[in-house]
Amino acid sequence: MNIDLEPFKKLIKQRCGLILEGLAEEKLSTVLAQRLIVTKFGNSAEYYFHLQSSDDEFQDLVNLLTINETYFFREVEQLHLLTERLVPRLLMQRKDSQPLRILSAGCSSGEEPFSLVMALREKYGDEVSSLFSFAGGDIDTQALAKARSGRYNEFSFRGVATAIKDRYFDHDGWDYHLKDEIRNRVEFQEMNLFAEEFPAALHDCDIIFFRNVSIYFDTQTRRIIQQNLASLLNENGCLVIGTAETIANDLGVLSLIEEDGLFYFSKGQLIVPVPATAPVFDFSRYVPSKMAAPEQCDRPELPFVRCSPPVASSLPIAEVVVPVVAPFDPCCNIDEVQQYCREKRYKEAMAMIVILLEQNPGDASSLLLKAHIQLNSKEFELADASARQALETDPWSIDAFVLLGLAAKWRDLVKEAVRWFKQAVYARHECWLARYYLADLYRVGGESDKARREYRGVLQLLSQATVPDHGIKVLPLGIVHSELRFLCEHQLGKLGDQQRRVRRK
Ligand SMILES: C[S@@+](CC[C@H](N)C(=O)[O-])C[C@H]1O[C@@H](n2cnc3c(N)ncnc32)[C@H](O)[C@@H]1O
Repeated sequence: MNIDLEPFKKLIKQRCGLILEGLAEEKLSTVLAQRLIVTKFGNSAEYYFHLQSSDDEFQDLVNLLTINETYFFREVEQLHLLTERLVPRLLMQRKDSQPLRILSAGCSSGEEPFSLVMALREKYGDEVSSLFSFAGGDIDTQALAKARSGRYNEFSFRGVATAIKDRYFDHDGWDYHLKDEIRNRVEFQEMNLFAEEFPAALHDCDIIFFRNVSIYFDTQTRRIIQQNLASLLNENGCLVIGTAETIANDLGVLSLIEEDGLFYFSKGQLIVPVPATAPVFDFSRYVPSKMAAPEQCDRPELPFVRCSPPVASSLPIAEVVVPVVAPFDPCCNIDEVQQYCREKRYKEAMAMIVILLEQNPGDASSLLLKAHIQLNSKEFELADASARQALETDPWSIDAFVLLGLAAKWRDLVKEAVRWFKQAVYARHECWLARYYLADLYRVGGESDKARREYRGVLQLLSQATVPDHGIKVLPLGIVHSELRFLCEHQLGKLGDQQRRVRRK
């Protein structure tokens, strides 16, 4: 069905700020085709006319378009920033005994706000109910319904410590039911970040988590949304944005603060106390040690500019410090990032990538390694976005084609995956890795002849005295040729067997 997408893209951007390009545009096309069937409108013009006046239909459409990827204890180091730095300071500074108000803006199905409750429950015990009030807001009413139900499956736990799961969830096979003591703490609200007004329940926040949402907006929209969020914050309140999104959100609306190597934004004159000792965060409490805290590195300190003078507080107070981008940081180079990636030390690698991208936002190698980490953290949409960004600098990057193929393959977007792997092979015939993935996709899709052809091609390339360069320059592959050869032979054998079986029938 050929639908003119432009009016729909415009309407959606106008009402909720979402930019629907690339994959999102493809999704829009599929979703519109579905809605035309469900609503029984004869053509897209009629449906568009209806959409403009029907809030219910607009909501149904938006619910189908949002990307709700989320999981418990995501970017756990920011949760430690919350429990060890932001909350103790704000509690100390508050003038009355009102609870601190914490909002997760773009909370999806609730994993983020519930993680905030659990992290603070771990630190403050039963006092959590008198010290804090929690809200979660999202435009997607279906995601909110799931959040309210507190029911999850294994996919929401990408490496959460068993002790935490046991403490806060009732477990029944694949289903996890969040215990009421946590579930009842969060009040969920419909919220359009791009709206001009917000429900009263979302006002007067002390801390807002706004993570992995801003990537769906352009700069102008991000600025409006940040102004909206700033209006919901109390004086000295903090806005925590996903680690990879910070720079794109430094828009002059709120002040950027760095503490313990992490960035967040603050409204007004935030007073940052000097920690008596370097922080020792025990990340393994929530997630097993694979994603543990960055190790101290001998990196020279970033130069700092001092801002406003301190005001009274019972903690040792220093002046606010705002980091200036370092012109050259000898501790951060791409080889080191690659090494960390090889060792699967993704936290350290990502911390360096953030610095490298600050120095050179279009640096293709940093973007590719970022995509590699996101892919390995199952953040497929983000990996897709980073790889596409790398293609803007290097349009013939084989690494980017392979990454995009994998990001599509793991989301079961088979046609899209085949397209990207083919693109890699088109750009470099000897890219045996892309050919191997193509062969696998063909095999699973039942296209045996094509699968056989590609497996044979890979075998041929890998059997040469000098294995040809596959063209992948940045990604750490760690693939042993003999193992891949074995896999190809094994699959070819199986395909042959199947053929014989078919013939016998
Ligand atoms: C990828 S999820 C992020 C979930 C969570 N914050 C996290 O970091 O895991 C993005 C969420 O933003 C929501 N969203 C997108 N546009 C929005 C808007 N204009 N207003 C409110 N929520 C929006 C989507 O519905 C989706 O649930």
